[in-house]
Amino acid sequence: MTDTAFVEFDRVQKSYDGEVLVVKDLNLTMPKGEFLTMLGPSGSGKTTCLMMLAGFETATHGEIRLDGQEINNIPPHKRGIGMVFQNYALFPHMTVNENLAFPLEVRGMEKSVREDKVRRALDMVQMGAFGNRRPAQLSGGQQQRIALARALVFEPELVLMDEPLGALDKQLREQMQFEITRLAHDLGITTVYVTHDQTEALTMSDRVAVFNDGVIQQLAPPDQLYEEPENSFVAQFIGENNTLEGRVKAISGGIAEVELHDGRIIDAKPVNVHNPGERTRVSIRPERVEMNTARLPEGAHTLEAEVQEFIYMGDIFRTRLSVAGNDDFIVKTRNAPGQTRMEPGQKIQIGWLAEDCRALDAA
Ligand SMILES: Nc1ncnc2c1ncn2[C@@H]1O[C@H](COP(=O)(O)OP(=O)(O)OP(=O)(O)O)[C@@H](O)[C@H]1O
Ligand SMILES: [Mg+2]
Repeated sequence: MTDTAFVEFDRVQKSYDGEVLVVKDLNLTMPKGEFLTMLGPSGSGKTTCLMMLAGFETATHGEIRLDGQEINNIPPHKRGIGMVFQNYALFPHMTVNENLAFPLEVRGMEKSVREDKVRRALDMVQMGAFGNRRPAQLSGGQQQRIALARALVFEPELVLMDEPLGALDKQLREQMQFEITRLAHDLGITTVYVTHDQTEALTMSDRVAVFNDGVIQQLAPPDQLYEEPENSFVAQFIGENNTLEGRVKAISGGIAEVELHDGRIIDAKPVNVHNPGERTRVSIRPERVEMNTARLPEGAHTLEAEVQEFIYMGDIFRTRLSVAGNDDFIVKTRNAPGQTRMEPGQKIQIGWLAEDCRALDAA
């Protein structure tokens, strides 16, 4: 990856009806070679962004640039972008070879060059033996690989993929996730990938843009997104998460004291709160909750909890607790030597390091 901007959305807005903005003031800069995923709930504006980048929709406001050049007025076929969509959209009356040769023909390449490139693209997705079949004679996963090969065959610098693996079963999906990232990295392709599957987003991407309601809520590498969510939406959307609601009592030394509804105090890191009196929702991951409070630093606040359910999962234990009015507070512990198994009804103390508990917006 290089530092210079390759794909840029600059204050981009989109409205289909002239009233409602489905993309609101989008700013996004991608370096060449990056694999970026747009992740978000249905209707949050992901496909719309991809369509604007591809040139099938125009931005209502703002500028989109590719390699420094404004592309708002360049038609789709002149943008040199490869695309894969959820419904593979292979041409059913053409063979695999003909499907792949098509984007090359459109670009005026001669036959011998075409044949060579088609062969290499098919080998790349391990479909070399299937050139003479028609799409209907292939499995869903094989069709998907052909669609991928067709998007890559003309060696685009930018590839857009919209839920390309949606129709596949879990195993094939995981295999294709691996193949797509490998190809993208090997060929140095810049990729914008759209999914609403967070595991897919976290495992495949250099960075993930979390969308909600036409706004990027957070744009960060996967580990940062999971460990340092900047707001309640991202904390809830990515991974499993416990929340407790309360009010900021004091902030000092980088620690917020948060008073829960029942008057008890917990420690949190002030992320999205700034002043005493503010309402907040604190967020803590199940694997960061400590049930052995002797391990916590001196003076750390603890809370009483009642065990509701204990689930043995082999490698981990999953304990559901009732904590400060939240009956769905999950703690995950590793099945380590000497780790005790909880019994329903058992009363325990729990706590955490202030830095693992994020005081976010009350949303
Ligand atoms: N052609 C269109 N005309 C009018 N409204 C549209 C059009 N396409 C999308 N929308 C609206 O724009 C909003 C964003 O849609 P978009 O397809 O970008 O969402 P998405 O994030 O891709 O969702 P999904 O995960 O369901 O594919 C939605 O409210 C949708 O109804
Ligand atoms: Mg979509």
